[in-house]
Amino acid sequence: MRFTIAIDGPAAAGKGTISKAVAQHFGFAHLDTGLLYRAVGAQMLAGVPPVEAAQTLQADALDAAKLRSADVAQAASKVAAIPEVRAALVDFQRAFASRAGGAVLDGRDIGTVICPEAEAKLFVTATPEVRATRRHLELTAAGSSTDYATVLADVKERDARDMNRADAPLRPAADAVVLDTSQLSIAQAIAQAIAAISSKQQR
Ligand code: DC
Repeated sequence: MRFTIAIDGPAAAGKGTISKAVAQHFGFAHLDTGLLYRAVGAQMLAGVPPVEAAQTLQADALDAAKLRSADVAQAASKVAAIPEVRAALVDFQRAFASRAGGAVLDGRDIGTVICPEAEAKLFVTATPEVRATRRHLELTAAGSSTDYATVLADVKERDARDMNRADAPLRPAADAVVLDTSQLSIAQAIAQAIAAISSKQQR
C-alpha cells in the first residue's frame, strides 16, 4: 500500500512531534525533511559550497542530535532558498514518499511541491510567540542560556525567509487541513491530526 502524509508548517509549530506520533499510529516510515537542509547548512558552515553539499549528501549525515543548534537552523533556512539545493534534494524525498507501507514527510513544501499528490496533507501552525516559548523551553531544558527575545527574533527571521523565498515558499497547500496548535496540548494536537488523516483514509 502507498499512502503519503505531508505535514508542513513553520519552525517549532509541533510538526516534528505530531509527525512522529502520526507515523507511529499508522505504522508508516517518517522523514524529517528539515534534517536534509540542516545537514547541508552544517556543511556550509564547515566551508563546503551548499550546492555541492546537497548533491553529495549521504544518509549518515542526517544525525538529528548534531544538527539541532540555532546556527545550523539559520544556515539551513539560508541554503533552503537556493533553487539548486532544493532541486538536488527532490529525488530522495519523492523516493521516500512512495515507499511501500506508507510514509510521513514533514517540512515546508511537502504538500505543495514534493508530494502534491499526497493522500493527506496537514499544515501545522501556531503563533510566533507560542512557538518561541516552546523552543525557548526546549533550549533551556537542554542547558542553553539563550533568552526568550532572541528565540522569538530567530523564529520570526526564519519565518520571513521561509515564507518569502521565490522557490517553494512556506504556505499551506490548497487542500491541506490547517491545524493551529497555539491553544492545544500535545495530546490534543496529535489526536486532531490523526482524526484528520483517518478521514482521508476512509474515502
Ligand atoms: O524543520 P526545520 O526547522 O528543521 O527546518 C530547517 C530549515 O530548513 C527551515 O528553516 C527551512 C528549511 N526547510 C525547507 O526549506 N523545506 C523543507 N521541506 C524542510 C525544511
